[in-house]
This record gives sequence, structure tokens and C-alpha cells, in this order.
Amino acid sequence: MQTPFHLAWFLQGSSVQAWGEPWTGNIGQDWMGLSLFKDLVQSLERACFDYLLIEDSIYIGETWQNSRDIFLKTGMCTPRQDPAVVGSILAAVSSRLGIVPTLSTFAYAPYLTARIIGSIDQISGGRAGWNMVTGSSDLSAQNFGMDKLPDHDIRYDMAEEYVQIVKQLWSSWEPGALLDDRKNGVLFDPGKVHSIDYVGQYYSSRGPLNSGPCPQGRPVIAQAGGSTKGKTFAAGHADTIVAAPVGVANMKQYRDDVRASMVAQGRNPDDCKILFLLSPIVSETESQARWLADQRAVLAERNIEARLARLGWNINIDFSQFDLDQPVGELSTNGHQSTLAQFLTRAGKSTLREAVIAQNSNGSPPDR
Ligand SMILES: Cc1cc2nc3c(=O)[nH]c(=O)nc-3n(C[C@H](O)[C@H](O)[C@H](O)COP(=O)(O)O)c2cc1C
Repeated sequence: MQTPFHLAWFLQGSSVQAWGEPWTGNIGQDWMGLSLFKDLVQSLERACFDYLLIEDSIYIGETWQNSRDIFLKTGMCTPRQDPAVVGSILAAVSSRLGIVPTLSTFAYAPYLTARIIGSIDQISGGRAGWNMVTGSSDLSAQNFGMDKLPDHDIRYDMAEEYVQIVKQLWSSWEPGALLDDRKNGVLFDPGKVHSIDYVGQYYSSRGPLNSGPCPQGRPVIAQAGGSTKGKTFAAGHADTIVAAPVGVANMKQYRDDVRASMVAQGRNPDDCKILFLLSPIVSETESQARWLADQRAVLAERNIEARLARLGWNINIDFSQFDLDQPVGELSTNGHQSTLAQFLTRAGKSTLREAVIAQNSNGSPPDR
């Protein structure tokens, strides 16, 4: 029996992230246009990828010297176009690939998420998914009129209600609701379209979804929780997970944990495809690949401030306050907790400088 092999591409915002590299040509101008994205999805289809996950963060970073400068100067995590817009266009220029935009729970109301993803599911012929995230930075919350994000674990409690609403809205149209019966003048069967009348502690929604039924019935849910709470949440709802544990043993452990949690929550563990985040080095020969891997560490050393700003953006900590040549020590965050935990475990007793260089060298997954 052949073992199915699944591949997804993690698109971190728009493709300007490699700006300045000799191989990215005119990307400083091209990133606004459709052609780069189109080329990406069509290449992924040729390579038989299952889906494209479009990352999102809804703010410009300031996690270096409390300033946006390094983020703007280097195009780091900036710009970020709306993933729903990018996802819709990519659905139109592809035919087989799953399109999975990230919509953050603090920024999009549950009804809006159900409607956006439902609409992409329709225009793509049933290829839409939703990467479900709860956010990580207070700066993003401030773009929506809040002072700060709720605490990490509360965000997952809120997400539990949120996801129930989204799922119920997708189910507010029963199969067979579309009749298209021209003889009797009936397009939809009113008996198969229902309100959901959900009233929760954090969110409420009446329904039904006015965008109509989804070709998949229920679009795919992707999640990447890494903390205990996050993993339980992912195990409860995700159809696919892209996780970032470091090393084969941790990957196996992650998979075992999620599968056990799925069973405990009454799910079949085979109903969720777990993928792991890698940043492979592709080269013609082994020695070239090893040389390129070494270059990652060299570049990290040369661009240490940018690398720290990037890591800080990911885990919501401004590392400019610390001495580069002192041990990393204890840190905490209200952002992605498991990402910080992994960094601290790998850092051990090494200095901040050494830890960041190691993080960027061979074998490390890209930040998230
Ligand atoms: C592959 C991958 C993609 C992710 N995409 C996003 C994203 O687009 N936006 C976001 O705010 N968080 C994103 N995250 C962060 C996760 O949602 C989650 O917060 C993180 O893995 C830490 O887990 P925890 O919140 O349970 O600590 C991503 C994580 C991974 C591994």
C-alpha cells in the first residue's frame, strides 16, 4: 500500500520577504501585482501540492527599539495584503490547489469569517480552508480599537465559541437546499435553510449565512496551536495542522499528543492531517547544500538585529532591551507561547547572539 504524502506551502504574507536577494529581481515593484502570486500557485499545482496556507498578521512590527524602522527598511513582515483578497484571486487562477487564508479571530467577526471562506469555497469549486489563529500582538489589537489582546488562554476559550458559530453557519444550509426548480419557480428550499441563534459568552450570531451553501459542505479548518491549550483546540477542530516542533522526536511527540487528544474528544485521529514546517535547502549537490546551510548562520550573524526583530515580532518581545552576549534566561509572552518555549529550550545556556544564529542555521524551521 502506498502511503499518501501531503505537501502544503506556507506563504508568509506577500512575497516581498526575499527583497534584496539577487534571485528575486524586481520584486520590490512586482509584489503588488498578480503575476507573482499566479506563478506561485501554478507552480505549486504542477508540483502536486495539496494546499497553500496564507499567513497573516495585521500590524507593522515594532519589536526592535520600539520602532517600525527595521521592519519598513528591510520589508520584514511588511507588507501584508488581506489574505481573503489574495486568496480569492488565487482561487481564480488555480484549479486543484486548496486555498487556506488566515483570518484572525480578534479581527474578523465569526459571521464574516464564515461568509468569506464560504464565498471562496464557492468560487473555487470547493477548495477553501480557513487558518484559524487567535493573534499574538497588542499592536494588532490596537488597529481594531482594543487596548490589547485578551490573555493567551482566554483567546482559545473565545475561539471555542467562535469556531462553533462558524461551523454552525456553514451548516445553516442543509444539503439539497439549492433546488433551481424553474418550472415551479423555486430556487432555494426555505425548509432547508436555518437560523442558528447562537448566544455565547463572547460571541453571538443569528444566521443563516446569506452567502449560501458551501460546495464542500464544511470548508477545511487549519490550525497550528502549539501550547497545551492550543494543541487541545487544534485536536478538537482542525482538519489539518501545520506545526513547528524542532526535530523528529518532537514532531512525533506532537503528532502523538494531537492524535491522543482527538481520540479523547471523540474524533477519529486519521481525520486530521498533521504537517510539519520545514525550510528545505534545495541544491544540485550535497556540498552545495551544506555550503548554503552554513550561509544561513553567516547571514544571521551579519544581520543579527534584523533576525532578533523578526523573532521578537513572532513572539512579541523586544530583544533590543537585552545584552546580546548574556545568556537568554527566562522570558514570557502573551503571544505564541510554544514558539517561545521552543526557542528557550534550544537556547539552553547559550547567549542571545548564539541562540539566534543557531535558530537561523541549518535544520531550523522558519519563524512562526
Ligand atoms: C505553520 C504555522 C502558521 C501560522 N500562521 C499564523 C498566522 O498566519 N497568524 C498568526 O497570528 N499566527 C500564526 N501561527 C501561530 C499559531 O496560530 C499559534 O499561535 C502558534 O503555533 C503558537 O501556539 P500557541 O498559541 O498554542 O502557543 C502559525 C503557526 C504555524 C506553526
